[in-house]
Amino acid sequence: MSDDEDVPIRVDFRDAATARAWVEETRIKRPFRPRFFAAFCEALVASPKLRILELGSGPGQLAREILVHCDVQHYVALDFSPAMHAIAAEHLGELAHQVTFVTRDFREPGWTEGLGTFDAVVTLQAAHETRHRRHLVPLLTRARTLLEPGGTLLYADHYLDPDTKLRTLMLEREDQPRSLERAGFAGVELRYEEGSMALWCGTRLDLAVVERDVDASS
Ligand SMILES: C[S@@+](CC[C@H](N)C(=O)[O-])C[C@H]1O[C@@H](n2cnc3c(N)ncnc32)[C@H](O)[C@@H]1O
Repeated sequence: MSDDEDVPIRVDFRDAATARAWVEETRIKRPFRPRFFAAFCEALVASPKLRILELGSGPGQLAREILVHCDVQHYVALDFSPAMHAIAAEHLGELAHQVTFVTRDFREPGWTEGLGTFDAVVTLQAAHETRHRRHLVPLLTRARTLLEPGGTLLYADHYLDPDTKLRTLMLEREDQPRSLERAGFAGVELRYEEGSMALWCGTRLDLAVVERDVDASS
């Protein structure tokens, strides 16, 4: 397989047993994930009545923390796996009433259709599931179109380390914030990092504000 080709799906989260096994394995393999959940919440906690879209929402662990700790008006959990949505609904319990589960493949160009607009798009350990690192900027660019001006992207994923096996999927660490910038996000900053994973925050600029500032300075 050449570096230009998409990496075929090897772990298919649409299979119920695979999805459940991933949740259990990840709990043991990445015990630091709760610190990422907390960093997402910290980035969102000051904002009222949030409309949030999560990409690759999986078992609903991040959704649960955000729903418990932040002021959420509406939460859309997008994933292509009905099996993951079932696990998430179980994990969320009563909180699931605040969540709209959307079963959709974010590799399809039309995945944004009809979703509405959001104050924040969040994603954890899922963007590499586009199956090639070259698809990250298009994914984030489409996500940006769903954000209100001034809206927030919180993107966390693995970056390349010497042990990474599937190098075509992951970016170098320094290319992660660059990808957010290439997708049109401003003020990109690191919010948390551990275990060869980083959480980056970027803002969809309000073009009207930019134009006003340019006018004011000219
Ligand atoms: C490694 S899991 C991470 C789940 C969750 N974000 C978390 O950290 O707990 C990746 C998730 O992305 C979903 N996924 C994979 N490919 C996808 C695609 N093409 N479109 C939408 N979701 C996808 C999987 O079903 C799975 O739930």
